[in-house]
Amino acid sequence: MSIRTLDDLLAEGVSGRRVLVRADLNVPLDKQTGDITDHDSASAPQGGTPDGVRIADDGRIRAVLPTLSALTGAGAKVVVCSHLGRPKGTPDPKFSLSPVAGRLGELLGARVHFATDTVGESARSTVDALADGEVALLENLRFNKGETSKDDTERGAFADELAAFGDAYVDDAFGAVHRKHASVHDVPARLPHVAGRLVLREVEVLSRLTGEPERPYVVVLGGSKVSDKLAVIEALLPTVDRLLIGGGMCFTFLKAQGHEVGSSLLEEEMVETCRSLLERSEGKIMLPVDVVAADAFAPDAAHDTVPADGIPSKRVGLDIGPETVAGFAAALKGARTIFWNGPMGVFEMPAFAHGTRGIAETIAKSEAFTVVGGGDSAAAVRALGLDESSFGHISTGGGASLEYLEGKTLPGIAALEN
Ligand code: 3PG
Ligand code: MG
Repeated sequence: MSIRTLDDLLAEGVSGRRVLVRADLNVPLDKQTGDITDHDSASAPQGGTPDGVRIADDGRIRAVLPTLSALTGAGAKVVVCSHLGRPKGTPDPKFSLSPVAGRLGELLGARVHFATDTVGESARSTVDALADGEVALLENLRFNKGETSKDDTERGAFADELAAFGDAYVDDAFGAVHRKHASVHDVPARLPHVAGRLVLREVEVLSRLTGEPERPYVVVLGGSKVSDKLAVIEALLPTVDRLLIGGGMCFTFLKAQGHEVGSSLLEEEMVETCRSLLERSEGKIMLPVDVVAADAFAPDAAHDTVPADGIPSKRVGLDIGPETVAGFAAALKGARTIFWNGPMGVFEMPAFAHGTRGIAETIAKSEAFTVVGGGDSAAAVRALGLDESSFGHISTGGGASLEYLEGKTLPGIAALEN
């Protein structure tokens, strides 16, 4: 890879220099105060205030620590920026990074100076006051229209303001490298730029999957939307030996096989596409044979296991059934490479977590090189209390890892190559 790395930057010396680090600190916050991420789960946003917000999964914060510690240890003035959720280009307290600053400080074991705006007065004075080895976190990048603007000039103007806070730029936001956003795509054109430790590790691991993966190579896909996964299914079909499909997206495939799916999640306009995929898949695609069907989308809804071709009309499928778990486990047995993206059911509700747990445990026990991709599946691993170290790699990127596997050019990576 023709990309300069953090080690190159450290070798130049960073003591006393301001280093702008783009991180992906887009972490899920506690459900009680509002699910503000775009994660795949079917749970609905509930609103709420930022007071008493709890970070439901700090995996993405921990993942960026090696880069930050290396920089502070070398005496840099570290200015961290990130997005959180999808605010619409204007400040919105629900999406403040303030709770993240607190957690980041705890994990770093040092105070994190928090700027209450991104490129305004607070940001300027916070950055100016940084001593060598100290860390500042700017408020949510997406409180500014320029961050996500499709207009190059508008994005560029915001990138100019951000770039003014650094003498060098480090991209460690793997989860956002697929976004053509100012902090990801335009800032590196304005500053000496390198890839952080996390971005390097992610690319190293994922390139093992797109290169010559050891066979059998089995992919497990879940999550709610087929439309999000279509491109990756197309890209993976020629490469994989087996493709196991669960989660909310399986119902559109079941429908394509001619089964009724009750009131389960269904993307009607995708049914034809799924049918064509099944036809072209040479039998590689494996679908659930049983599902857990409930009276309602609720943690305490009455539910039982039904055959996948016999979902009662008023019922909603919320998990894959035990026979499916066993079948998927058999297909995973003997695999040498496994990639898993997307939960198998509504794992946030214990009654519908068995499928995700069963698959996660099977993958954890496997001898294969195992990669977990995506915000939700990574969160599921931790929420279910599984040992992270029993997986080969847990990616911090959902969309980013899928687009990498699709073979797409990622704006954030391309920007580092220039
Ligand atoms: C994610 O959570 O997928 C990344 O942080 C990117 O966020 P986005 O999908 O809102 O751009
Ligand atoms: Mg996303």
